[in-house]
Amino acid sequence: MNLIRTGIIKLDEYFGGFPEGRTVLLTGDAGAGKTIFGLQFASSNCAQGKKTMYLSTEEISDDLRLQAKSLGIDIEDYEKEGLLEFLDVSVLTHDTWDSNVRVLINKGNISSLMDNIPEDINTLIIDNIGGYISRDGSVELLNELDTLNYNLYTKGITALLMMDNATLKEFNDIALYSCHGSIHMMKHENPYTGKRERVMDIVKMRNCKTPIQLIPYEISLQGGIEIISIIE
Ligand SMILES: Nc1ncnc2c1ncn2[C@@H]1O[C@H](COP(=O)(O)OP(=O)(O)O)[C@@H](O)[C@H]1O
Ligand SMILES: [Mg+2]
Repeated sequence: MNLIRTGIIKLDEYFGGFPEGRTVLLTGDAGAGKTIFGLQFASSNCAQGKKTMYLSTEEISDDLRLQAKSLGIDIEDYEKEGLLEFLDVSVLTHDTWDSNVRVLINKGNISSLMDNIPEDINTLIIDNIGGYISRDGSVELLNELDTLNYNLYTKGITALLMMDNATLKEFNDIALYSCHGSIHMMKHENPYTGKRERVMDIVKMRNCKTPIQLIPYEISLQGGIEIISIIE
């Protein structure tokens, strides 16, 4: 399986990257760094020549650009080259046809999203999928995610799906089952130092050995998420 570097150095050293054409779910507390992770992933995909679409259901594109710039994450040139496209659906509540990106956005309706994913993109980042899924129940959520992931897989699209904790908990973590990998980002108190720190948990990564320990990371002005160390 071809691997796509995430742009997070130690994660790439450990795993070699995320598998191309598969979906990784990124979950976590508000402020944990999911969006920053997504921006790094976008930049790194572009650096590897992958046409990337960043679909934002929460933040306007200008704020994402500012966030990337403030952390030294390169996206400006990729946008100019047409390798990276931001699609901001944060303000949309109805069906909207975006002629630039040829995608029908119907917030709250995941099948309209699936049916209209542009054919020519290699990588899709959805930040966050919580606003897209129906609230019908866990079985429906699992079906929707399975179908989405299968659709992406058949198109060869690598995906990073972010999901907020509220949605994750509402469906009893069921979203974890459907994806190839899943990473949970959080803040916790270090039992040795008593200090709060940011850590990520590699919940799963199919066909890979995964570290069992929580992985501490910082948000650095020199590039964003910076893993301090990975201990098995
Ligand atoms: N320039 C910066 N310097 C240091 N930390 C920052 C900077 N910008 C953002 N952060 C940190 O990142 C957090 C936002 O990360 P974000 O990826 O938006 O979280 P999430 O998407 O998980 O809610 C902020 O709450 C702040 O703690
Ligand atoms: Mg976010």
